[in-house]
Amino acid sequence: MAKNVNLVGRNLYDLDTYSSAEIETIFETTQVMKSIIKRDYKKIPTLRGKTVCTLFFEDSTRTRISFELAAKRLSADVISFTKAGSSLKKGESLQDTVYTLDAMGVDLYVIRHGCPGTPALVHKYSDKPVLNAGDGKHAHPTQALLDMFSIWEKKGTLDGLKITIVGDILHSRVARSNCIGMKKMGAEVTVCAPRTLMPPKIEKVYGVKAEYDLYKAVQEADAVMALRIQMERQSEGLFPSLGEYSQKYGLNKNVLEQTKDDVLIMHPGPMNRGIEIFPEVADSEHSVIIEQVTNGLAVRMALLFLILGGKAAKEVK
Ligand code: CP
Repeated sequence: MAKNVNLVGRNLYDLDTYSSAEIETIFETTQVMKSIIKRDYKKIPTLRGKTVCTLFFEDSTRTRISFELAAKRLSADVISFTKAGSSLKKGESLQDTVYTLDAMGVDLYVIRHGCPGTPALVHKYSDKPVLNAGDGKHAHPTQALLDMFSIWEKKGTLDGLKITIVGDILHSRVARSNCIGMKKMGAEVTVCAPRTLMPPKIEKVYGVKAEYDLYKAVQEADAVMALRIQMERQSEGLFPSLGEYSQKYGLNKNVLEQTKDDVLIMHPGPMNRGIEIFPEVADSEHSVIIEQVTNGLAVRMALLFLILGGKAAKEVK
């Protein structure tokens, strides 16, 4: 573990407030957690007596389940709150919901919400740490951490690597958090999309390169990440049709042939096969998409451990 790194009690809204040393510590701890979840007996008692509450106001498979499993693997108790079936339906506010959950002894909140900034709002109502599991188009820092860890583990570093993110950059919280985190760790990031799906001034704001030609964008990349078109966050008319989008920006066999021999193919999920990525690429020997899911569990274990427990990675046995 890097010297002077202590994440106890920290919030995680996005990666802009985490240093490269802190991210490196999360990666080192993730390696240890990954070794634990590969054992026959996958559970350690470190967070026994702690209570983690997941608050999901948007759909999720990977993030919600992996956070809840991560807490259980560390022996914490888990409260799984979803809007459906809760008293929010009777008009209770988010503020009173958090006060209610706090009164039951929650030690840490994980929240996904369609409104940017909601994780910080939860922390106004509770002094417990809050982890952002995706807030609107703003940020998805734990996804970025698992994406970065997946590259770091395979390549040994992110420093100096060329990473291309292709797809709906405009609506993607995953792209935003990855641009911040990858740049912080020394990678050269290229984002590729039709002009209508590229945020204005992205080069200036994030220090990345914007490229509109997919073939050029992938040629020198050490890792290529495809993103889903976020139909739920956009108005119509940003591209003629999904079929035409796919022809120009979908990762298919012809695109894969343009890449380096040791390229990593990534996708945060959920995938829309046949649109942004084709089976011959998603299931190719270059793909680390399934391993990203395993790494997501390990990264979330590491975060819960460091924020609620705080011991050095080597002490986790
Ligand atoms: N990548 C991701 O956030 O997936 P879920 O929406 O399934 O959590």
